[in-house]
Amino acid sequence: MRIDIITVLPEMLTGFVGTSILARAQKKGLAEIHIHNLRDYTTDKHRRVDDYPFGGFAGMVMQCQPIDDCISHLKAERHYDAIIFTTPDGRQFDQPMANSFSLMQNVIILCGHYKGIDYRIREHLITHEVSIGDYVLTGGELAAAVMTDAIVRLIPGVLSDEQSALSDSFQDNLLAAPVYTRPADYKGWRVPDILLSGHEAKIKEWELTQSLERTRRLRPDLLAERHK
Ligand code: ADE
Repeated sequence: MRIDIITVLPEMLTGFVGTSILARAQKKGLAEIHIHNLRDYTTDKHRRVDDYPFGGFAGMVMQCQPIDDCISHLKAERHYDAIIFTTPDGRQFDQPMANSFSLMQNVIILCGHYKGIDYRIREHLITHEVSIGDYVLTGGELAAAVMTDAIVRLIPGVLSDEQSALSDSFQDNLLAAPVYTRPADYKGWRVPDILLSGHEAKIKEWELTQSLERTRRLRPDLLAERHK
């Protein structure tokens, strides 16, 4: 899978995409992540990519030209399955959305900034408008990073134990059961006996009961989703 991220702040993302799981995914040839500096595409001699909004509103708006040119440049090279715009007024990102993006071949993520982007870009070029939550960030870079991380780790072969992505919280609208490691007794804080019993079926049953109990207590909305 290939992800092209368009941003005015590439330095916010370069460290992130070169680290940990994302670095490993790229080394293994399972993901390619490219970061494009929007300023490289502006025809403005001062490298500006924004301007005042029509109508006398406050703030600055990202202009059509650099965004259109950057996306056209990418589209001339390959077909894109999705052109995503990160924005607080988009559809809320969740695990099913991460799953469906992870099945795509080529995706563009355009990071929003300032007051927003010229609405004509959203109308004519963007296929998905996505928010990572009901709060306003300074820019879309952190949203793009969150989405990229959630998407890439789902690509088969990226995680060393594929099972671990499948048993994530949310994958089946259940929170994950608690996990423990050695020692079994730390300062008198004991690991549940069942996990030390070696009884596989009973452990599985414990895991499901814990998942259900934690979901009921912490995220009852997810259980309602499960029964839809
Ligand atoms: N840009 C600013 N806030 C955002 C949010 N919550 N999600 C996605 N992009 C954003």
